[in-house]
Amino acid sequence: MSTNPFKNKNVLITAGPTQEAIDPVRYISNHSSGKMGYAIAEAFLNEGANVYLISGPASIKLESPDLEIVSVRTANEMYEACCLYFEQADIVIFSAAVADYRPEKIALQKIKKNSDSFSIKMIKNIDIAYELGRIKKSHQLTVGFALETNQELQHAIGKLNKKNLDMVVLNSMNDQNATFGYDTNKITIIKPNILPKKFSLKHKTEVAQDIIKEIALILIAKHVLNETCNLN
Ligand code: CTP
Repeated sequence: MSTNPFKNKNVLITAGPTQEAIDPVRYISNHSSGKMGYAIAEAFLNEGANVYLISGPASIKLESPDLEIVSVRTANEMYEACCLYFEQADIVIFSAAVADYRPEKIALQKIKKNSDSFSIKMIKNIDIAYELGRIKKSHQLTVGFALETNQELQHAIGKLNKKNLDMVVLNSMNDQNATFGYDTNKITIIKPNILPKKFSLKHKTEVAQDIIKEIALILIAKHVLNETCNLN
C-alpha cells in the first residue's frame, strides 16, 4: 500500500438536502447546507482521489479536474445517480440529509388555500445507504452520518449495523455551533468493536480531515489483515 491510501481511489459522496415536491411551487426539505459533504469531497481531492459528488440543492462552489458533480433534487434522483457510480466506488460517504418521506401525490396545480387545514399523505423514500449496504462488496468501504437528538450512541450504532457501514459520523443536535448551517461541527466517530472516539468543535474543513484520517486507519487495518492472511 502506498503512503497515500486515497491516491486514485474512486470516492462517491452524497451531500446536501433532498427536496420532495408538494405541488409545482412547494416542497418538503430540511436545513442541510451541504457544507460537511463538500468539505469531505475537498479533503479527498487534496489527497489525489477521484470524487463523484451527488449533491442535493446547495450553494457551494467546488471545482477540480478530478471532481464530477451530479446535481439532484429528490431522494429517488439521488439514489439513481448513486447507482450509476456505486460499482466503481472504493469508498462511499453518505453525508446527505435525505428526506425520509415524500408526498404520495404531487399536485399538478398550485394548492389553493380554500380550506382551513389540509393533510398530505407521506410515503417512505428509499434508504440509499441501506440499499447500497446490501449489495456492497468486501473491498468497498462505506461511511454514514447520524444526526441525533437523544440516545445518540445507541441510535448511531443501530445505523452502523442496519446499513452495513464501516463507520458512522455522529452529530448531536444538543451540541452548540455544530450540525446544519454552521461552519463548525463536533463529531463522534463510531466503528465496529471499538470505543467511540469524540472530537472537539472544529471548522468543517478540519472535521473533514479527521474523518478521512479515520477512514485511512480502516484501509490500513484492512490492508494489514489481507497481508497477514496471504502470509498464512
Ligand atoms: N440515508 C440515506 N437515505 C435515506 C436516509 C438516510 O442514504 N433515505 C443515510 C444518510 O445519508 C446517513 C444515514 O443514512 O448517512 C443515516 O441517516 P439519518 O437521517 O440519520 O437516519 P435514518 O436512517 O433516516 O433514520 P431516522 O431518520 O429514523 O433517524
